[in-house]
Amino acid sequence: MDVPSVAQSIVHKTQSGDQGALPEELHRAVLAVAYGAASDTSTGSTEFFLLAMAKYPEIQRKAQEELEAYVGPNRLPDFSDYGNLVYCRAIVKETFRWRPVIPYGVIHRVMCDDEYEGLFIPKGATVVFNSWGMLHNPEDYPRPEEFYPDRFIKDGKLDPNVRDPSTIAFGFGRRICPGRHLADASLFLTVASVLHVFNVEPATGPDGEPLSVDVKMTDGMISLPESLPCVLRVRSKQAESLIYKSNIE
Ligand code: HEM
Repeated sequence: MDVPSVAQSIVHKTQSGDQGALPEELHRAVLAVAYGAASDTSTGSTEFFLLAMAKYPEIQRKAQEELEAYVGPNRLPDFSDYGNLVYCRAIVKETFRWRPVIPYGVIHRVMCDDEYEGLFIPKGATVVFNSWGMLHNPEDYPRPEEFYPDRFIKDGKLDPNVRDPSTIAFGFGRRICPGRHLADASLFLTVASVLHVFNVEPATGPDGEPLSVDVKMTDGMISLPESLPCVLRVRSKQAESLIYKSNIE
């Protein structure tokens, strides 16, 4: 399959002697920064999505009903389904809100004297933004510890009156994450594709009992699940053939 690749097109531009090509050092920097900033964050969000599905099977079922209605059994979901898959998009939003992988953001430096609610913030001060606190503020998100995608939906549509967690989880101002749309789009495709063909369940321990999926988050600026005690089970024979077919294409 001919998949567009940023790395490939940058290299190709240089090799073909394109006048607009950037110096090689810049290529490496652009691709390395994108890879570094994208990999742990996107993987972590995918892992938290899987943990949420294992913990909340009724939410998983609801998304699967949406996929059955709009995508059907004969193909995998793709971006043409974006408009119809409102519940899957709400799951993406709730994943970014429920377990933000950068819970205390990235430190910023104040460029000029400022004031916030009577507090003086001098130029040059470092500011840490509490993304976790904002994303778990019960005034914006009632019962914040619960994974509840329906909070974003009203009358079958995404409700613009509920604050979009992407306005917090990806930072603020000039340094806001430039990969936020890619992150949103790729988690959407993951949510839709995984739930279309798999059931996500808690893994079982040596005693045959399901393991707890309430796992801790790791320390550090990027905070990931400490473990991923989940299994993916193919939903049907038809789902299995869709998976094989997508590998061949
Ligand atoms: C779930 C996925 C992701 C999350 C939660 C996330 C979150 C963040 C946050 C909180 C920041 C700091 C923003 C600030 O300083 O205010 C950031 C910066 C950045 N992100 Fe992401 N990000 C994600 C995925 C990606 C992807 C897919 C890319 C690129 C392909 C990317 C590229 C970057 C870069 C280059 C920066 C530094 C921007 C700068 O300092 O000017 N991120 N991200």
